[in-house]
Amino acid sequence: MKFLVLGAAAGGGLPQWNCGCKNCEAARAGEIPASGQSSLAVSAGKGAWSILNASPDIRAQMQANPALHPRDLRDTPVRSVLLTNGDIDHIAGLLSMREQTPFTLFGTSEIQSVLADNRIFDAVSREKVDRRAIALNQDFELHDGLSARLFAVPGKVPLFMEGETVQTDLVGEQTVGVRLWDDDSVAYYIPGCAAITDRLLAQIADADQLFFDGTLWDDDEMIRTGTGVKTGRRMGHVPISGPDGSMAALAHLPARKTYIHINNTNPIWLPDSPERAAVLAAGWRIARDGQESAT
Ligand code: MLT
Ligand code: MN
Ligand code: ZN
Repeated sequence: MKFLVLGAAAGGGLPQWNCGCKNCEAARAGEIPASGQSSLAVSAGKGAWSILNASPDIRAQMQANPALHPRDLRDTPVRSVLLTNGDIDHIAGLLSMREQTPFTLFGTSEIQSVLADNRIFDAVSREKVDRRAIALNQDFELHDGLSARLFAVPGKVPLFMEGETVQTDLVGEQTVGVRLWDDDSVAYYIPGCAAITDRLLAQIADADQLFFDGTLWDDDEMIRTGTGVKTGRRMGHVPISGPDGSMAALAHLPARKTYIHINNTNPIWLPDSPERAAVLAAGWRIARDGQESAT
């Protein structure tokens, strides 16, 4: 399997249009690389690719990565798109893929219904784009030679569908992780996860490679930096640090581990930060746009 990080940042990207935080300013000044919104491409080889989450930046992300360019007049090596939740940073890119080229669109029925309930997505031709509802824990093929299975991870409904009260630890079809495998290896992609449960740990125990939710360094990051009023857990994202954080909970996992879906406020973006040093010392990689890896 080959992986290509299309967007390492969380929703909003780095820099985010309305943010003057230290990281966004550093990205504007060219001191750290700017990063697109959450997306990962995967290939079993032979030139075919699947895109895991279609970010609002997908047009620029495809432009920046020649592996995804057309080989012919009206063509794409992208065989399918898989959605892991219905958040804007994961679905809005579909609107840029509305130009009548066929691909398969995979997601749970709940995630498919987010699209079905929003008529703007009718612009993505149902004749050309096969919308396939995938049940949890059922094997399917993302493209020739690449198998996948969706499983529930703790999460919540998309931000734009939240009601007055929000359950942030729903385990169902609204937020999923994906197991990916070919003849050689097993990988997991989990860009949004509210908590690391024993069930999740058992699920990913056979990972050779893991791409995991790196949204926030700590739960109070948005509040502390004055950029928001919600904790990470309220947003459906377990923090990296702390005794219940992902770094501690996943320390024993022998896989190659990469943080992805990193919010613009996260101090791990900064090359000289102690937080980045701690993550790297724990053996994690930090995703960046254009990063390739193979298993
Ligand atoms: C998230 O991951 O929390 C969402 O992308 C939030 C959003 O849609 O802005
Ligand atoms: Mn997101
Ligand atoms: Zn910022």
